[in-house]
Amino acid sequence: MNCATATAHPNIALVKYWGKRDVALNLPAVPSLSLTLAPWSTRTTVETDAPRDEVRLAGRPATDAEASRVTRFLDLVDPDRPPCVVDSANDFPTAAGLASSASAFAALALAATEALGHTRTRAELSALARRGSGSACRSLWGGFVRWDRGTRADGADSCGHPVAGPDHWDLRMVVAIVSDGPKPTASTAGMLHTARTSPLYAGWVASAEATLAEAQAAVLDRDLERLGRAMEQSTFTMHATMHTSDPPLIYWLPATLAVVHAVQALRRGGVGAWATMDAGPQVKVLCEVEDADTVQRAIAPHALRTAILGPGRDAHLEPAC
Ligand code: DP6
Repeated sequence: MNCATATAHPNIALVKYWGKRDVALNLPAVPSLSLTLAPWSTRTTVETDAPRDEVRLAGRPATDAEASRVTRFLDLVDPDRPPCVVDSANDFPTAAGLASSASAFAALALAATEALGHTRTRAELSALARRGSGSACRSLWGGFVRWDRGTRADGADSCGHPVAGPDHWDLRMVVAIVSDGPKPTASTAGMLHTARTSPLYAGWVASAEATLAEAQAAVLDRDLERLGRAMEQSTFTMHATMHTSDPPLIYWLPATLAVVHAVQALRRGGVGAWATMDAGPQVKVLCEVEDADTVQRAIAPHALRTAILGPGRDAHLEPAC
């Protein structure tokens, strides 16, 4: 029996991935850029040579749908693999637009590759994690990570690239959890629906490279205002495609908008804070370390809970299983 445990942090996209150029291989229609965030993490253990496949999530047996997503991924890691036991847990809320699938598939790619006795480069691990969930390819690295769209049909040129490590820029992402409910439409279904039905989707794809270039330059220059503006541009353009789908896909709740307005009021008062939302109602607010408490106080009245996150490090294997 072999056993390996890996830990990975979630990432929040500063420039969003929304839309696929290849659904089976999970290749994106647009490039994206993210910040890997600590202290939130997923910890996953894979043990080989079990009597049969067994998947445990957050200490309970996985549902059939969850288990088959995991075991199909293990088949990609090694098509000739023995049965495995997978045990995975997050220390943060799952499935509410908080990027839980990103850290989950990054940790699983790393732990399963090790337990099944394979050797893969980080870029290969990233391309593998992408097959589980697109955004997972960015969680192999800490700090700021770019995911290129790539042009190859086999996807070999579409994986994460570290842009700047976690020590490059000590920013904060203040998270407003405004709902605990599971999201109504999973991101995969949401992006396919948007691509099929929104008249704005073509404009979203056409504008993505320029937004990415702007945000990446801002990261390298440590220019928060420039980064914040590019991030909001990406967020609101992506949500505009969702809102103009048929039928409309609206992930926002009233509290989501209340937080966005609170962030705009902070900016009018001279505090550098910018908001981003994903496939769920939660809001993440980007700001300097010294403004994080002010931001948290301003958005807390609209949220069930808030959390302050900072740059996280690379996904890594734990010394003991
Ligand atoms: C809005 O990576 O969850 O969070 O590849 O279909 O599993 P699949 O989608 P997923 O989508 C994330 C979408 C997003 C933006 C982002 O993280 O870039």
